[in-house]
Amino acid sequence: MRKIIVAGNWKMNKTASETRVLLEELQAQLPATTAGVMVAPTFVNLAGAVEQLGGSAIEVVAQNMHFADSGAYTGEISADMLADIGIKTVILGHSERRAYFGEDDALLSKKVGKAIEKGMKVIFCFGEELADRYDKKHFEVVEKQLKNALFDLPETAWQQIILAYEPVWAIGTGETASPEQAQEVHAFIRSRVAGHSAEVADGVQILYGGSMKPDNAKELIAKPDIDGGLIGGASLKAEDFLAICRAAG
Ligand code: 13P
Repeated sequence: MRKIIVAGNWKMNKTASETRVLLEELQAQLPATTAGVMVAPTFVNLAGAVEQLGGSAIEVVAQNMHFADSGAYTGEISADMLADIGIKTVILGHSERRAYFGEDDALLSKKVGKAIEKGMKVIFCFGEELADRYDKKHFEVVEKQLKNALFDLPETAWQQIILAYEPVWAIGTGETASPEQAQEVHAFIRSRVAGHSAEVADGVQILYGGSMKPDNAKELIAKPDIDGGLIGGASLKAEDFLAICRAAG
């Protein structure tokens, strides 16, 4: 039985004081849930968040990291720096990193490799753009993204991988993949991972991301191959994020 995950990707939102307030609200009102709950504040607020949530059921995760151990990479953050402040999980491959910061599959493969080497868990994001879906190329695109960044990993490394299918056309647009559309792609993803290893495919959690909200979360998460959500906009309001946690059961 795969554990459901509800993860909030805060992107470039919330100052330090706003972060503190939102975390306080989440901590105070977190429902009893069997789901794993994660939040990803910005880099500058990670250490404070870890300290504030110490001992709580909410895990603090990072939104990105560099592939090198250390060195002359101005503005970048290493896996060791994250681990040193208590971060155990990092989001990689987000479509905004791909679109605005030129992150391609080859770079992402290096980042994933480094995170695995450092013992971190990776929430690996991927998903097609609107044009791909119109052209009926979404399965092809998704498979290529997975293959290029993950399919060379040894089977043991998959213990550290969480997948997040995020169709780009549904991110921040208010437009959600229908539960059926999402399930169709999630089942496809699992079948492709099964081509690699049936055991890995059975165990790997596949989150859905793209305008997940309190009013659609339950139906999405009820689908057999959707193991939770990676939530942007709705994770910035305690009320909405907590409602999604409740919907996750
Ligand atoms: P929205 O929930 O705002 O569509 O964002 C989804 C996302 O990009 C999560 O990583």
